Order: sequence, then C-alpha cells, then structure tokens
Amino acid sequence: MEENSLKNNLHGSIAESPSFHKVVRERTSCRGFLPDQVPSDILNSVLEEASLAPSNCNTQPWETHVVSGDKLEQLSEAILKADEAGNMSPDFSFDAAEFYGRYDERRFDQGKALYEAFSVKRENKEGRKEVSNQNYKFYNAPHLAIPFMPSFGDNVRVGGDIGMYGQNFLLSLTAHGLAGVPQTAVGFFADTVREILNVPKELRMLFGISFGYADPSAPGNSYKLGRDPIFRTVVFHQ
Ligand SMILES: Cc1cc2nc3c(=O)[nH]c(=O)nc-3n(C[C@H](O)[C@H](O)[C@H](O)COP(=O)(O)O)c2cc1C
Repeated sequence: MEENSLKNNLHGSIAESPSFHKVVRERTSCRGFLPDQVPSDILNSVLEEASLAPSNCNTQPWETHVVSGDKLEQLSEAILKADEAGNMSPDFSFDAAEFYGRYDERRFDQGKALYEAFSVKRENKEGRKEVSNQNYKFYNAPHLAIPFMPSFGDNVRVGGDIGMYGQNFLLSLTAHGLAGVPQTAVGFFADTVREILNVPKELRMLFGISFGYADPSAPGNSYKLGRDPIFRTVVFHQ
C-alpha cells in the first residue's frame, strides 16, 4: 500500500500528532479517569493505530472488544462478585512469587508507590484490597478494551503479538490526549468476562486496557515510575 493511501486510511493527520519522543515519555499507566466518553472518531483512530502493530507472519491475532456504559458496569459487578466468591479463571498463570532478584525489587517498588499514592500502609490488608479492587472498577474509566487472542501452541508468540498491539494502543491513546492502563487483573476473571460479553472460549484473554481521559487529581495518577538505565538492561556485542 502506498504510504499516502495508508495515511489517508487513518483518522486524523500524522502531521498534527505530537512527536514519538514526547508520546513515549508521556505515556504512563493511568489509575483514575474522568467520566467523559471518548468520541467515536478518536476511538476509531486509536483502534486503527493499534492494528498497525507487527505480528508473527502478519497473523494479526487480535479480536478487540470495547466495553462502555451499562455493559461496563455489569462487567465490573460480575467481576467483583466473582472475586468475592473466589472464582478466578485466568487463561494464563500469574504468580508474583515467581519474580526474583532485581525483578522482585522492581515489583516491590511499584507496589510501594501505588499504595503510598492511595495513602494505604503495607500492613493495612483491607486498604490494600480496596486499592486492588480499583482494577475491577476499571479505575473509573468510561471504557475497557480487551484484545482477545486465538490460541496457537504454547501461546508465547501470540502473547507477544498482543503485547505489541497493546503498546500501540497505549501510545496512540497518549498521542490523542487520552490515557490507559493495561490490566492483567481483569484477565484473572477471563471466564466471567467471556460470559458477560458472549465471547467463545476459544478466544483467550491476556489483559484488558481501561482507558479514557485522565483525572489529574486522582491519587493513582500522583506518581510516575522510572526505569533502570540502559547500561543495566542492554548488552552490546561486536
Ligand atoms: C501486561 C501488563 C499488565 C498489567 N497489569 C496491571 C494491573 O492489573 N493493574 C494495574 O494497576 N497495573 C497493571 N499494569 C501496569 C504496570 O504496573 C505498569 O506498566 C508498570 O508499573 C510501569 O509503570 P508505567 O506503565 O506507568 O510506566 C500492567 C502492565 C502491563 C504491561
């Protein structure tokens, strides 16, 4: 496809977008949203830009469900109920106890920043549960996108494709003045989500992305996590 015709297929002008340099630095996980809905032309632009992600053999292994309004409320209620009943149904395992060394240190620092932002002390179990329940209220976001995926083999490669799609989605949100947060926590209730959205069991769920306009005064948006310098995370060979 000619570059120009690809541009013309997309909503919005690339020339008007902020630079990649700015967008990639501005993106941050948003944990508090305003109630305003995202206009459908902007939403379509984000969905199109997400779909420009690379994938193994260009299989484009995503079927994205966007949930808003009453359906989102229904989903939140069903997940909170399933959580209370202990009915977790993740498609893929997740055990934070498997993190070790510097990975576990980073996990710890991330949790500390989150609970401090909500003024919840580590020993306050109830308070911590309240904070983690925000996941199931989608941090008050007006929309949730779920890129469901087909199952191929051990699913590692398709999971990578979904990750790339998710990052395009998040960067596109930022470029449009929106914000989002990827949520493994929503994927802990994959069966509940599929039931409410009438999605077949063949489609798996890795994470959801709550999104909308950031509420700058929300406690969950009061911090930004840094990254290790590249000398710790990159090895050069020649
Ligand atoms: C696949 C994935 C799943 C995540 N799941 C959750 C989640 O369930 N709840 C949450 O609040 N944040 C979740 N996050 C956000 C991470 O905590 C966040 O990306 C990380 O701490 C770095 O912060 P930043 O995104 O603001 O740079 C997830 C991120 C990714 C990439």
